[in-house]
Amino acid sequence: MKILMVCLGNICRSPMAEGVMRHLVEKKELDWEIDSAGTGGWHLGEAPDKRAIRTAANHGIDISGLKARKFSERDFGRFDHIFVMDSTNYSDVISLSENDEERNKVKLFLEAADPNSPEKNVTDPWFEDRLFEPVFLGIREACEKLIEKLRS
Ligand code: 4NP
Repeated sequence: MKILMVCLGNICRSPMAEGVMRHLVEKKELDWEIDSAGTGGWHLGEAPDKRAIRTAANHGIDISGLKARKFSERDFGRFDHIFVMDSTNYSDVISLSENDEERNKVKLFLEAADPNSPEKNVTDPWFEDRLFEPVFLGIREACEKLIEKLRS
């Protein structure tokens, strides 16, 4: 199984989701490939935001080696599932798709993890330091649910 996590900058939400997901699938000894990308290109090649690195590290996950990259049309062919962090990411990714097979791979991350989730969008913590911890915890909970869904 190949999974891509997508947000806007690929320096806050999707690298945390990538790190958590990889950590959990390794713990469960699943041979899954996890990656992340951003719909915007402002931070290409940069490491995740320091606050994202610190928050993940506080929970035992090292994301300091990740590098931001931009989502590309080729990712539709490379991944089985493309999980987007919010509805803007959703429309940006969908606008690059060419057919239903590609579109069917794209899902809102929180909704895919739990269709009854009251929250549909992962809040962008970029503008507010205090949001990193709750956003991380939400991402972790969603990753745990998503793994169970994808395994069944
Ligand atoms: P992310 O957060 O999409 O979770 O990586 C952002 C990071 C950077 C910017 C916006 C959102 N930015 O405008 O540079």
